[in-house]
Amino acid sequence: MPEHTATALAHPNIAFVKYWGNQDNVLRLPSNASLSMNLDGLETVTRVAFSAALKEDELLIDGERRLGVPAQRVSAHLDLIRQRAGLDLKARVESRNNFPMGAGIASSASAFAALTLAGAAAAGLTLEERELSALARLGSGSACRSVPAGFVEWQTGASYQVGPLSEACDDSFAFTIAPPDHWALTDVIAVVRAAPKAVSSSNGHALAHTSPFHAAQVATSAERLQRCRRALFAHDFAALAEVMEADSNIMHAVTMTSEPPLFYWEPATLNILKAVPAWRAGGLPVGYTVDAGPNVHCLCPAEAAPEVARRLREELGVSQLLTAAPGSGARLLEA
Ligand code: DP6
Repeated sequence: MPEHTATALAHPNIAFVKYWGNQDNVLRLPSNASLSMNLDGLETVTRVAFSAALKEDELLIDGERRLGVPAQRVSAHLDLIRQRAGLDLKARVESRNNFPMGAGIASSASAFAALTLAGAAAAGLTLEERELSALARLGSGSACRSVPAGFVEWQTGASYQVGPLSEACDDSFAFTIAPPDHWALTDVIAVVRAAPKAVSSSNGHALAHTSPFHAAQVATSAERLQRCRRALFAHDFAALAEVMEADSNIMHAVTMTSEPPLFYWEPATLNILKAVPAWRAGGLPVGYTVDAGPNVHCLCPAEAAPEVARRLREELGVSQLLTAAPGSGARLLEA
């Protein structure tokens, strides 16, 4: 591996109990704890190469040079890594995704998890999983959940910034609560629209407190987290589906009532949200959750996935589907 170069792979994750709104937007200290599953098969691979020959950081996503906000966000994250490592070199970052970006499939989660692992290793840092998770959080909140494997919880964290930002709030990190093989669930993702969303999650988080319902979401989320954790440990699919759907609906009630309101759903999204509980009532184990985009994640036991996919295609006319099993954590690859 050439000096100052490293490559990492990370999966996105889907939250069953969601993160929406921060106590502190700069530190990305979430308003509530969240619980998610990493998505195997969907991946971001990122190579970071620090070099004295570079005058500025360069970002390439899927082979295309990117400027503006994505590049600034990556540079700001590299600054944290450089600060922590005492390194004064610019970097070339090459990132590839095998799924559509910016469409509510949490590409920022896998992107910042992979960037954190590759960047830290390339800068010569040796960090523990919890430190990598906390560092990834500063790039994108949900990225902290893509660092550990399988089914993951992100705790809010109680501390505040006392030193440099790169070392801040290390007790807000994510950890595995069950390994990927704990439960053979499948996420059948109905891709309703693959174009990037109009309002980023970061802007949505910043607006969350303007909804009168956000306080209620936060006040009730610990109870949902507890129910979700219990359902997960008991392999109780019906209980999992109920709490996951309720949590998603509450988050979207907040987005739709913030000022200005954010409507992430498309008409096709709502068709699926109406069909899924009806399918469940008819005996097919499936439940939905929707992130900050129009696509619907239909979770089901693996054996139900072919039938869920068939109904989404044939009954609802969804033409693009992605499927994912519980995934591993982020890891370094041979550069
Ligand atoms: C709706 O982690 O993408 O997917 O911290 O601003 O990068 P930033 O936001 P992000 O927000 C994810 C929000 C969500 C719910 C969740 O994954 O918990």
